[in-house]
Amino acid sequence: MNNLNQSKENFSNKVVHWYLNNGRNNLPWRKNISPYRVWISEIMLQQTQVKTVIPFFKRFINKYPNLKSLSRASEDDILALWTGLGFYKRAKNIFKTKEIIKKEYKNVFPKKFEELILLPGIGRSTAGAIMSIAHNQSYPILDANVKRVISRFDNINIENKKAIKSLWSLSESYTPSKNIFEYTQGIMDLGAIICHTSSPSCSECP
Ligand code: ADE
Repeated sequence: MNNLNQSKENFSNKVVHWYLNNGRNNLPWRKNISPYRVWISEIMLQQTQVKTVIPFFKRFINKYPNLKSLSRASEDDILALWTGLGFYKRAKNIFKTKEIIKKEYKNVFPKKFEELILLPGIGRSTAGAIMSIAHNQSYPILDANVKRVISRFDNINIENKKAIKSLWSLSESYTPSKNIFEYTQGIMDLGAIICHTSSPSCSECP
């Protein structure tokens, strides 16, 4: 293995190890993992903080524990569960997506990245999160937490127009081929717990 690959493996190993000791493994969407639960949680987490999402996710899953139960919901039913969470387009996209899954996938959650990314509300990072967390497959993510961790680690100026392309390519290169679940959750948690936007706890960073 050359030095570059070694340092990338070192990065992901440290994130995985840190997650196993410090990660938030009691978050409700990290239990009873299914593509459906990961999808709902990732959509809720797109623009909302973890602690706000928790009760909304629990209420949603309580009412609609799986795709089959959600398939009968109206857009208003879904919007009602979204009241207070904001960014209501997300709820409308959940309605649109479950209708597509009902009609085109016989109510079975699509398994391929290329299928996921075509669904309303699911961009590259959300599709990557579903593939890595629910299917343990090596797909990169780039949410706000991951952007912060990688841009600081690699000294990338995120104001620069070309930054996003570099960050995606770095995220891809750090994403390991094993322990994907732990790595993906770990880098998100590292961003949230250690690599804060202001006053990051750099001395505790793995
Ligand atoms: N932010 C986005 N996805 C997340 C997840 N699965 N866990 C914690 N924070 C997140």
